[in-house]
Amino acid sequence: MKTRTSLLLVLLLIGYTNTTNAQKKETPIDKKWWKEAIIYQLYPRSFQDSNGDGVGDLKGITQRLDYLQSLGIDAIWLNPICASPNDDNGYDISDYKAIMKEMGTMADFDEMLAGMKKRNIKLIMDLVVNHSSDEHQWFIEAKKSRDNQYRNYYHWWPAEKGTPPKRFSIFDENSDAWRYEPNTNSYYLHYFSRKQPDLNWENPQLRQEMYDIMKFWLDKGVSGFRLDAFPFIAKDTNWPVMPADFTNEQFVRYYGADAKLHNYLREMNEVILSKYKDVYTVGEGGVIPFQKVMDFVDEDRKEINTLYHDEIANIWGRDAYDVGAYQVGRNNVLGMKEIVNKWDKKMESKGWNTVYFTNHDQSRAVSRYGNDSPEFREKSAKMLYTFLLTQRATPYIYNGDEIGMTNIRFKTAAEYNDLQTRNVYNQLIKISDAKAAEYLLNQQELSRDNSRTPMQWNGTKNAGFTTGNPWLTINKNYTTVNVEANTKDKNSILNYAKKLAKIRKENPIFVYGKLEIIDPTNPDVFTYTRELNGKKIIVLLNFTSKTTSISAPLLAQKTTQWIGNYPTPFQKELRPYEAVILEVN
Ligand code: GLC
Ligand code: CA
Repeated sequence: MKTRTSLLLVLLLIGYTNTTNAQKKETPIDKKWWKEAIIYQLYPRSFQDSNGDGVGDLKGITQRLDYLQSLGIDAIWLNPICASPNDDNGYDISDYKAIMKEMGTMADFDEMLAGMKKRNIKLIMDLVVNHSSDEHQWFIEAKKSRDNQYRNYYHWWPAEKGTPPKRFSIFDENSDAWRYEPNTNSYYLHYFSRKQPDLNWENPQLRQEMYDIMKFWLDKGVSGFRLDAFPFIAKDTNWPVMPADFTNEQFVRYYGADAKLHNYLREMNEVILSKYKDVYTVGEGGVIPFQKVMDFVDEDRKEINTLYHDEIANIWGRDAYDVGAYQVGRNNVLGMKEIVNKWDKKMESKGWNTVYFTNHDQSRAVSRYGNDSPEFREKSAKMLYTFLLTQRATPYIYNGDEIGMTNIRFKTAAEYNDLQTRNVYNQLIKISDAKAAEYLLNQQELSRDNSRTPMQWNGTKNAGFTTGNPWLTINKNYTTVNVEANTKDKNSILNYAKKLAKIRKENPIFVYGKLEIIDPTNPDVFTYTRELNGKKIIVLLNFTSKTTSISAPLLAQKTTQWIGNYPTPFQKELRPYEAVILEVN
């Protein structure tokens, strides 16, 4: 059996279709707050612990609001904070209208939100729509009897029909998405862990519950939702047997993104989102094929505003374990140019793009796309930040990237918390020690726990994150890589990040300006222009540790440097990981 690191990862390989976009004509700018926003993703378990239990919480976030404001961000995407037994760190919700006990209380939430509002920071909630926890009251009821009123909130297969058609599960110890439930002699479906049963969106009552949940949070004053794993909510519930040699394309079709998905999203819009002003949605869209993207984000269709794809992450090492040729992603600049261009052009006149390097499901940006050696960590972190903040897309900054936090690279299986790593390891160790060891090496670069280690605030014990025992090991480099040290050093990543945020905010060219990649065949340097209302700027980014020359005729013109990551201005050649923004005069 071929081991699946994860279902999502397999699916993520799709979407490299070339499309031609002949549209050249300039369309009037449709301004929106979420197009202009810099969004900061905050992983609450690891941000700030306020009561010494080793787990970050809402009061901790409230204590850090001034810091968040100082970053120049406009909105926060907060990973799940609802009641949860935490099988998958909050992505298994047992009560959608209550706060997870480790996170605090509803009063803490209200206080946090009020503090954000005061500082003009919007809040985007993570909404886990595809599954609940098996400890949710709905599921507890549903498994009581086949005619329970909550039975149809989930997907069941009666055992008298034999074993259900094979579906893989991402987090199941046996990779099996059907789990036998003896009380009603049936199997229930769980694409993720056994403790994350899939919700049945075909049931209008379930959909109404979801809209009520959205209403609950919108009435509190949140500004939008990140829709977790949303393509999976619409499945072919005839459960057709999958061909043994399925393609990735077929995989998506069997697992989700069924035509009903559009009906659900439109209904969600009509029933709830459209009732509020300027609500923003971003879908976790990794499995949506590139050629289908506009079916979701075209504003005329009234479905969702944006989605994020994983194509950049995928070409920098991800899923390499499955193809058996893992190496740390470096020098994938050419592939990245193609991806960036393709998505930018796709959204040129309709829809809107997003961009990110890392999140709670990926390893650390500087370790993965840059260079986290002492010599180049700061330079490359600033370079990556420059890329994110100069795209025609809403940038997502993951907490800790503003100080260049790095992969922790656990050595042993026991150090991992993430159920994904643990499950794959447990399967492999049954096959062979060598395979398990190889996987551990792979996870040093790619595990999700790399980006989940606690935020490094200062050089005191436990990095100022907690006075107790941190739930996940803190990276040893906290003594130098921390917010306090970054704040004091005027050349730090943090201060560079703040400056860049200010530049982006003050210059709409970075948000709405046309993007053109120049020098598309250069494998080391990413060079592009942004243009708006007769103004033109050039962004030059060296993705390598060597000094590199560039051939851009534009540079022959007179330019003014706006910002760069070296103490002295750019001159002709780009130094290792140099990043520079120039205005063409
Ligand atoms: C999404 C989340 C991930 C979670 C999974 C199941 O992929 O980003 O963290 O484990 O959905 O909810
Ligand atoms: Ca706590």
